[in-house]
Amino acid sequence: MKTVKIDEAFEISQVAAGCMRAADAGMEGDTFLRFAEECMEMGITTFDHAPVYGGYTCEKLFGDAVLRKKPELRKKMQIVTKTGIVLPGKNGNKTIYYESSKQEIKKEMEASLANLGTDYVDLLLVHRPDPLADPEETADALDTLVKEGKVRYIGVSNFMPSQVEMLQSYMKNKIVINQMELSVKNTENYFNGVTDDAFTRRMPLMAWSPLGGGSVFSGEDEQSVRLRSVLEEIASGYGTTIDTIMYAWLFVHPVRIAAITGTMQTDRIKKAVEALEIKLSYDEWYQILEASRGFSVP
Ligand SMILES: NC(=O)c1ccc[n+]([C@@H]2O[C@H](COP(=O)([O-])OP(=O)(O)OC[C@H]3O[C@@H](n4cnc5c(N)ncnc54)[C@H](OP(=O)(O)O)[C@@H]3O)[C@@H](O)[C@H]2O)c1
Repeated sequence: MKTVKIDEAFEISQVAAGCMRAADAGMEGDTFLRFAEECMEMGITTFDHAPVYGGYTCEKLFGDAVLRKKPELRKKMQIVTKTGIVLPGKNGNKTIYYESSKQEIKKEMEASLANLGTDYVDLLLVHRPDPLADPEETADALDTLVKEGKVRYIGVSNFMPSQVEMLQSYMKNKIVINQMELSVKNTENYFNGVTDDAFTRRMPLMAWSPLGGGSVFSGEDEQSVRLRSVLEEIASGYGTTIDTIMYAWLFVHPVRIAAITGTMQTDRIKKAVEALEIKLSYDEWYQILEASRGFSVP
C-alpha cells in the first residue's frame, strides 16, 4: 500500500476507509470486524470517522465491533475523527450548526474516545469552519488535546486557504491536512486555491466522496452521462472499471491525495487499491476534466 507521509513519525494509507455509511450498511459486530480486517489485509490502515456519522452511531459501532473486540489492532491503524458539527437535538437545539468552541470540542472528543474504544486518535479534523468561532479559543482547545495525548495531529476539513491560515496563526501545532470534496464530479478544489495552499504548506489532502457519492455510476444528469462515456473508454484501455479510473484521477496529482472510500463492500474498495498502480497521462486527465466541466480549457 502506498502511504501519504505527514511527517517523519506519521503516515496514512493512500486509500482510507470511510465509515460514514457504516450504520446504513448494517455494519456491526463480526461484519464490521471482518470489514476492518479485510481492509487492513489490503494495506488500508486509516479509518475515517466523525461523531455525526450515522446520527452519532458509527463511532460506537466501530468501537464495539473492532477495537473492544481486538484491541491489538489499534496500534496497526490510524484513526481519523472530526469535531464541530452539532445535529438537531444533541444540545437541545432545533437546527444543525457548526460549533468549534472549547467546550464543544472537549465534549465531542471525550465522547469520540469513549465510543471508538481508544484513548487517543491519530488525527482530529475540524469538520467545518464555524463562522461564530473565536480562533484563539478553537486553537487552544485543539492544542490542549494534543498536549493531553488524546490527539496526535490536527487537521481541518472543508476549509478555504484563508481559514486554514487564520486558525494556523493561533495554533502551536501544525495543521497537517485538509479533507475536501474532490472527485471527477467536483473539480473545484483543484482551481480555487485549496490545492495551491496545500502545496505551499507542504501538506497533503484527503478527498471525500472520491466517486462523487456514487452518482457517476447511474446518474442521468448531463455531467454523469458525459463522464461515464469518457471513463468507460479510458477504463477499457487499462482493462479495468470506471471506479478505478476515478480514483486514479485523484492519485496522479502531485499534491498527494489520500482517497476516502465510501462503500462498505471490500470488493469495491479493492478497486481503489488497484488504482494506485495506474498513472493516467496528461491527455487522459484532461479528457476527464473536460467531461466533468462540459468544456475544454481555452
Ligand atoms: N469531511 C467531510 O465533510 C466529509 C463529507 C462526506 C464524506 N466524508 C468521508 O468520505 C467518505 C466517502 O464519502 P462517500 O461515501 O460519499 O464516497 P463515494 O465513494 O464518493 O460514494 C460512495 C457511494 O458510491 C457507491 N459506489 C461505490 N462503488 C460503486 C460501484 N462500483 N457501483 C455502484 N455504486 C458504487 C456506494 O454504494 P455502496 O455503498 O452500495 O457500495 C456509495 O453509495 C465517507 O465515508 C466519510 O468518511 C467526509
